[in-house]
Amino acid sequence: MSLQSQLEQLKEESLEKITASDNLGSLNDLRVNLLGKKGPITEVLRGMKDLSNEERPKVGSFANIIKNQLQQSIDEKKVLLEQKKLQEEIAAESIDITLPGKKITAGTSHILTQVMEEIEDVFIGMGYQIIEGREVESDHYNFERMNLPKDHPARDMQDTFYISEDILVRTHTSPVQARTMEQHDFSKGALKMISPGKVFRRDTDDATHSHQFHQIEGLVVDKGITMADLKGTLEAVMKKMFGENRSIRLRPSYFPFTEPSVEVDVSCFKCGGKGCNVCKYTGWIEILGAGMVHPKVLAMSGIDPDVYTGFAFGLGPDRVAMLRYGVNDIRNFYLNDVRFLGQFQTKE
Ligand code: DAH
Repeated sequence: MSLQSQLEQLKEESLEKITASDNLGSLNDLRVNLLGKKGPITEVLRGMKDLSNEERPKVGSFANIIKNQLQQSIDEKKVLLEQKKLQEEIAAESIDITLPGKKITAGTSHILTQVMEEIEDVFIGMGYQIIEGREVESDHYNFERMNLPKDHPARDMQDTFYISEDILVRTHTSPVQARTMEQHDFSKGALKMISPGKVFRRDTDDATHSHQFHQIEGLVVDKGITMADLKGTLEAVMKKMFGENRSIRLRPSYFPFTEPSVEVDVSCFKCGGKGCNVCKYTGWIEILGAGMVHPKVLAMSGIDPDVYTGFAFGLGPDRVAMLRYGVNDIRNFYLNDVRFLGQFQTKE
C-alpha cells in the first residue's frame, strides 16, 4: 500500500475515533496518540526516506494536511465536549423547584392579646374609644380619685407595689376613668371608653393569682345614663363574647368608686346553665365588677353629678381566656412557654 493510501486510511480511522470519543480526557489521550512523536502518522512518515525526491514533498505536504485536519477535528470535538460538560454541570446544579420549600414558622399573637383585641372590637362596634392608660400611677389617681382616701379600709382589697409613697404600679385600670373624665369635652358628645392593660398586685402567685394580670376598664358618662344602660350594654357584650343565648344577672356588691355596685354573672357558655365544671355547678360564671359611677368620683373629675351620671365596669381578660380555653393556671399566660402559647394560633 502506498504511503498516501496508508495516510488516507489512518485519517479515516482517526476521524472515527475522534467522533466516537465522549469525554475530554479520552479526547486528549487520542490527540497525544495520533499527533504525538510516537503516533502512527510519524510512524508512516518514517517510510519517506525510501521515496523519490519528487514524491517526498508531495507525501510530506499530504501528511501535514491530514495532521491539520485531525487537529481541527479534535479542536471541534473539544468544543462540543466542553459544551456538553457545562450542560451536565448546569443540570446537576439546577434547583428542583418542585421540592417543598423550607417552612418558616410564623409566631402568633399571645392568647391574651387575641382575647383583648376581640373584646376591643366588640366595643369599637358600639362606638367606644380605646384609651391607653399608664402602668406607673400616682396614689392620687389609683386610689384617691377613685374615692379611696389615704386611710380608707377598702385599700386593703388591693395589695399594692409602691415605688415611693406616692408612686405605684397601678392595682387596677380604674384610674384611667379619672384621667379620661377630667379631659372630656361633653359638647362633643357622651364619654364612652374602654381601657385595656396590665395591672399589678402584691399577691402570692397561685393557679388563680398572678402579681401581674390584665383588666379592661369601661366607662360611659352622659346625661341620663341609668342602671338599665349598664345592664343592656353588658348583656349585649356578653352575648357577643360567649354566644347569643347568654343572659346575665346582677348581684349587689361593693366598690368604693361605684354606687350602687354589682357583680355581673353570665350564664354558663358550656352547659347553658344546667351546671358543669366550668361554672362550678352553679350555672353562672362571675365575670366582672360594675356599678354606677359614684357622684364623688364624677365631682372630683370636674363633672357635675346632678347633671351627669355614668356606669363603669372592670373585666378580667385573663379570666375570660381561662374559662373559654379551659386553662387551669393563670401563670401559664406569663411563662412564655411556646408549647403553651403555640396552641392558640391566630385565625387567618
Ligand atoms: N377596679 C376594680 C378591681 O380592680 C374592678 C372594677 C369594679 C372596675 C367595678 C370598675 C367597676 O370600673 O365599676 O377590682
